[in-house]
Amino acid sequence: MARFTLTVNGDRHEVDVSPEMPLLWVLRDKLGLTGSKFGCGIAQCGACTVHVDGEAVRSCVLPVSAVSGAVTTIEGLADGGDLHPLQTAWIDYDVAQCGYCQAGQIMTAAALLETNPKPTDADIDAALAGNYCRCGTYVRIRAAIHAAAGEGVAFYDASAKTGAQA
Ligand code: FES
Ligand code: FES
Repeated sequence: MARFTLTVNGDRHEVDVSPEMPLLWVLRDKLGLTGSKFGCGIAQCGACTVHVDGEAVRSCVLPVSAVSGAVTTIEGLADGGDLHPLQTAWIDYDVAQCGYCQAGQIMTAAALLETNPKPTDADIDAALAGNYCRCGTYVRIRAAIHAAAGEGVAFYDASAKTGAQA
């Protein structure tokens, strides 16, 4: 065991854990931040994605002893009481289905928008290629990212369908 000081969502925490303990375990089991999910545990699904100094990382394979910067989780993405534009877009576009993958999707998307504020479909697909969604919400994820970037996308026009049926 060893003592580590972590800054998570702007707060400093001291934890006494094994140096090999993955950051995801520290976040969920020691700090009670359960928004980041365990999916595969081998850096293949993206469910555990958090930011370290703004960069998207797979917290399931990052030992706590290797954390070298400030950590942001989905719980810390909102700016005070204001949701992040991606969170607002996720609600507006009703993205989540079961929801399990969505924290990781949003955190990866947030890191993308920091470096590429107006991503193309290809940019989005490339950036999120390692974030899997068993529910297949990829079309809505892409639309919500465009919306958060200030480029609203009508991927499903319910009123048009209603009109066609009348
Ligand atoms: S749980 Fe970390 S990438 Fe799947
Ligand atoms: S919303 Fe169910 S896995 Fe993505």
